Amino acid sequence: MAEKLKILIINGSVHVDSLNLKIAKIVEKELQSLETQSTLIHLGEEKLPPFEGYGVPYPPRVNEILKLMTQADGFIFVVPEYHRSMPSVFKNLFEYIDDEEVKIEDRPAALVTATEGQWGQFAQMSMHGMLRTLRVWLVPDQMYISQASTLLDEQGNLKDEKLLERLKSLVSRLVRASELLRPLRNGNG
Ligand SMILES: Cc1cc2nc3c(=O)[nH]c(=O)nc-3n(C[C@H](O)[C@H](O)[C@H](O)COP(=O)(O)O)c2cc1C
Repeated sequence: MAEKLKILIINGSVHVDSLNLKIAKIVEKELQSLETQSTLIHLGEEKLPPFEGYGVPYPPRVNEILKLMTQADGFIFVVPEYHRSMPSVFKNLFEYIDDEEVKIEDRPAALVTATEGQWGQFAQMSMHGMLRTLRVWLVPDQMYISQASTLLDEQGNLKDEKLLERLKSLVSRLVRASELLRPLRNGNG
């Protein structure tokens, strides 16, 4: 039997009570129902130190997260928009990836952004160039959840059925893309 697909969800918020974390948990539940092996990292809890340059030894937890990233078959990045860009904790994590010792190429990624306001697209646009530089493949689905707190109930469920269906469809496309790209990396890590 084929090994389960490993999907890594990274929530790029600094808030303990993060809106995007609530969405990330819905994504995690959906990935479990699709029988994948999923792991959720909330950068707001990790408090990773700032990247200090290649050649400077990395903190152990950074190495653990980078290992999870290189072992993953696909990514779902749930990323809030801070000042019309990705949060610095998210960018900081990616600066540790040197594209030589640590490679995440030829894996697909899906992006989801929940905001309190109307925006969200700027956070994702700021990520496109960074992910392409690392040769990560973006799935075509785009998911922005505006005014997100009004769309979640007290248990953290999405009240809008159509939005939930779109989120599930994005997750299922990411899983399919992860399956398709896995053989491409055989023997290349
Ligand atoms: C530093 C900062 C900058 C923000 N900038 C934006 C922005 O550019 N666009 C937007 O739609 N919301 C912006 N917001 C509001 C966020 O959408 C809102 O705080 C949301 O809850 C963030 O998601 P999180 O709770 O998962 O961190 C900003 C919030 C912070 C803290």
